[in-house]
Amino acid sequence: MINNLGPASARRLVPAHAEAPLFDCLRDFVERGQAPFFSPGHKGGRSLDPWFRENIAAIDLNNLPDTDTLHCPSGPIAEAEQLIADAWGASESFMLVQGSTAGNIAMALATLKPGDKVLIQRNAHKSVISGLIQTGAVPVWMQPHWDPDFGLAHGLDALQVDKTLTETRAKAVWILHPTYYGSVSDLLAIKAVCDKHDAILLVDGAHSPHFAFHPDLPIAAERSGAAAVVQSVHKILSGLSQAALLHIDGKRIETGTMRRALQLIQTTSPHFGIMASIDLARRQMATEGEAIMGRTLALARRARHELAAIPGIRLLGREHALGAGRGFFDLDETKLVIGISGIGMDGRHAQSVLNRVYGVQPELGGTDHVLCILTLGNTDEDVDRLVAAFKDMAQEGSDRRAVRTDGRLAVEALRLLPELVIPPRDAFFAEEETVAFDDAIGRIVAEVVTPYPPGIPLLMPGERINTDVASLLKALARADTPISASDPQLDTVKVVK
Ligand SMILES: Cc1ncc(COP(=O)(O)O)c(C=O)c1O
Repeated sequence: MINNLGPASARRLVPAHAEAPLFDCLRDFVERGQAPFFSPGHKGGRSLDPWFRENIAAIDLNNLPDTDTLHCPSGPIAEAEQLIADAWGASESFMLVQGSTAGNIAMALATLKPGDKVLIQRNAHKSVISGLIQTGAVPVWMQPHWDPDFGLAHGLDALQVDKTLTETRAKAVWILHPTYYGSVSDLLAIKAVCDKHDAILLVDGAHSPHFAFHPDLPIAAERSGAAAVVQSVHKILSGLSQAALLHIDGKRIETGTMRRALQLIQTTSPHFGIMASIDLARRQMATEGEAIMGRTLALARRARHELAAIPGIRLLGREHALGAGRGFFDLDETKLVIGISGIGMDGRHAQSVLNRVYGVQPELGGTDHVLCILTLGNTDEDVDRLVAAFKDMAQEGSDRRAVRTDGRLAVEALRLLPELVIPPRDAFFAEEETVAFDDAIGRIVAEVVTPYPPGIPLLMPGERINTDVASLLKALARADTPISASDPQLDTVKVVK
C-alpha cells in the first residue's frame, strides 16, 4: 500500500511503513521454490555446513581479540588464508568480503600506475573500469571473439594479444578467465606472449573458483603463472554472497603491496559469516573437491545431453572450441548456455516464462540464449524440472510471444571501437555536463554506456562519441534493448565539458 504522508512529502509517495517490500519479495521468491540455476552456488543453503546455516546470526561478530582482523590478520583469519593458498595452489591468497569487484580494484591499485597501458578485453566487468578510474591506467581495448551462433562474446586470441603488445608495449594484460558463459581463451598461450613482452598477466577469474579442483575443468589461472587472480567463491562454491578470493604470485606482486591496496578497499567491519563461508568452502573443496566437482560435472552433462535432444535446442559445448591460441579454447561444462533460436524464442522472454510458468530460474537471458549456472548445490530434481520446461516450451503452440531483440545489432556492437581521447580517470573527474544524446556526436563521453545484450560497453569514459556508435545505440534503444547508462532511455548522456 502506498500512502501520501502530507505536506512534508507533498511530491513524494511514501510506502506504508508496516510493509517491508524487499523482505516480502525475497520471502515470496523463496517460498515459490524455484529450481535454482543462478548464483550463489550454495543454492539456498543446500551445500552449506548445517551448523553454520543454523547459526549464521550468532557468528555475525566483529573484529575482536578472539576473532582476528581482516586488514591485518595474525590469528584464525591468517591461518584460513594460508590454507586457502595451499588448497588453490597459490603463493599467497586473501579473503574478500566485497566480491571479485573489490579484488579487481585492489589488483589494479597494486599493479598499475597513472599512465600505465593495460590490454583489456572489451567485455570486461565494470569493476575493471573502476580499477582504471581509480588508478589512472590507460586501457588498450581489445575485441573478444564473437560467437554468432549463440550470440555471445568469448576471450582473446593469443596472436592478437601478441600483435597489440608489440604495438603498444603495454605493461599488463587483463583477461577474463572464464567469461560469464564459461568459455576461456588459451591462457598458457597468452601467458607465453606476456612473458615474451615482459608484461604481467592479471586475471578476472570471478567464475573460476572451482577450476583447481577437477581435471575436466579448464586450466586454473592461479596455477599458471598469472600475477594475480580474483575469484567469486559465492558464484560457484559454498560461499555467501560477496565471498571471494584474491590469489597472487609472490614472485610478481609483494604481499604488503596487495595488503595495502586491500586495506583501502575493503570494509573495516567485514561480515564474519562471509569469511567463515570462505573458510568452510575451502575445507569442502580441499577435502572432497574432486568428488564434488565430478558429481556436478556428471549432472551438468546429463542436463546437456537431455536438453540437446530437444528439437530446436542447442548447447554451447567443448566441441565448439576453436583450438590452440584462440579466444574460445575451452569451456566449463557446468555453465549451460542453451541456444534457443531454433524454437523461435527470445532469451529474455524465455527467462521470464521459465520463472513464471515452470518455476525455473536461470541466471540470465541473452539474444538467442539462456544461461543456467549449475553448481554443487543443484540436484537431479532441478535438472528434471529444467529439461521438462524446455521440452514443453519447445512444443509448437507454447507461449512464445516475444519481443525479439535484433541479434545483428548486438554483433554490430563488436565492430565499433571508438577513439580513446583521454584516460577513463581524466574523463570521470573532468567537469561534465548532461547533453541531449542527439547533440553529443563529437563529444568525449564521461560515463559507461552498455547495451544488454551483448553486455559489452559501446562507450567508455574518455572515448569520443561518433556517428556510428550513436546510431547503433539509438537503434538498440528503439529495439527495447536494456541499456545501462545514466539515462537508460538515452535521451541524454554525460559528456566532458
Ligand atoms: C566477469 C566478472 N568479474 C567480476 C564480477 C564481480 O564479481 P562480484 O559480484 O563477486 O563482485 C562479476 C560479477 O558478475 C563478473 O561476472
